[in-house]
Amino acid sequence: MRKRLKIDSELVHLGRDLDKSSGYVNIPPYEGSTILHHDIADMKNRVRLQMNGEPSFTYGTEGGPAHQAFYEAMNQLEGGAGTWAYGTGLAGCVTPFFAFVQAGDHVLVTDSVYGPTRDFCETLLKRLGVEVEFYDPLIGSGIERLIRQNTRLIYMESPGSHTLEMQDVPAIIAAAKKKDVITMIDNTYATPLNFNPLRLGADVVIHAATKYICGHSDVLMSTVTCSERTWPEVKRVSKILGQYASAQSCYLGLRGLRTLKVRMDAIGAHTQAVVDWLSQRKEVESILWPAYPKDPGYAIYKRDFSGPIGLFCFTFKPNFTDEQIDKFLDSLTLFGLGYSWGGFESLILRCYGKRTVRNRTDLDRMVRVYIGLEDPSDLITDLEHAFSAIQ
Ligand SMILES: Cc1ncc(COP(=O)(O)O)c(C=O)c1O
Repeated sequence: MRKRLKIDSELVHLGRDLDKSSGYVNIPPYEGSTILHHDIADMKNRVRLQMNGEPSFTYGTEGGPAHQAFYEAMNQLEGGAGTWAYGTGLAGCVTPFFAFVQAGDHVLVTDSVYGPTRDFCETLLKRLGVEVEFYDPLIGSGIERLIRQNTRLIYMESPGSHTLEMQDVPAIIAAAKKKDVITMIDNTYATPLNFNPLRLGADVVIHAATKYICGHSDVLMSTVTCSERTWPEVKRVSKILGQYASAQSCYLGLRGLRTLKVRMDAIGAHTQAVVDWLSQRKEVESILWPAYPKDPGYAIYKRDFSGPIGLFCFTFKPNFTDEQIDKFLDSLTLFGLGYSWGGFESLILRCYGKRTVRNRTDLDRMVRVYIGLEDPSDLITDLEHAFSAIQ
């Protein structure tokens, strides 16, 4: 038996099946709706295999060889029983809710949840008769006090959108387990390399593969990887709701995994250099980055994560006006002004307090920065130039 490989080596070989790819290193993305069968016996056999949960292709929506290879890779990385892919990150965040909740249920969702997931909870879930309560991301084991008789699931995101609080995920999972509550987590920031909640007992792990996994800002997709007990229902509901990601997206997802470690290492080092420089600037009031020792989430980050993320926020000192902060952003030439993150290019945007940052109104002077693969000295020169434009 082959010795368990180091993660760098594992990423190079995950999901490869030379029989299915006719020997090609990367399994080709067969796109198609219809699959032709040799005869009735073949049709029956493929259905039987499917019913047993074994890979077998009968129709396009089931996914094909590229899906299968990508799913296998994600299962292995996250320690899951099954993975499904969806056409956007958001679809992966919201679809699993339908596997678990019904009218009359209560769900606990982190207050730092990605905005559109929050919108889903506040609109569609409520309309379906599900009570949604947003909990403080710093609650830790205190979540036990919020669990009621009808609490069905807890939805985490760590660090959380914009304010990047690290949650005590192991403590939340432990509290949920005591009361048999399902735990789901948006693990996009960590990637499957830095944190694996299923291995700690979580039930469902979501990645907006749009970000780091695909990594080149040219794909929208997510993956949902499940524990043994949740996989059958998540799969069933995903099929019922017609959820599908294209073969091309899965092919690009698997290709992205091959270089994920080197990209994450470079992004982490570049982010460290930019944060170190920013922390010395007189214009900067605070920096929110879990890998920064002064960050309130640093202790949990050190305990649970095996590497940093390329996303952080910083706030300007109170003497800076709205117009000056806008001018700062407009003066940047290397950073792209845009939503999203996880690609090879650095991005920046403004967070407008309550509009983007949930229940906090104190963060109007905050900007969100994503550091990509440019040389950090060039990024620093760009930031320096923008700071001088607002003196
Ligand atoms: C944490 C997180 N989850 C999910 C998503 C959704 O991904 P997509 O834009 O592909 O729908 C995003 C997008 O920004 C995100 O930041």
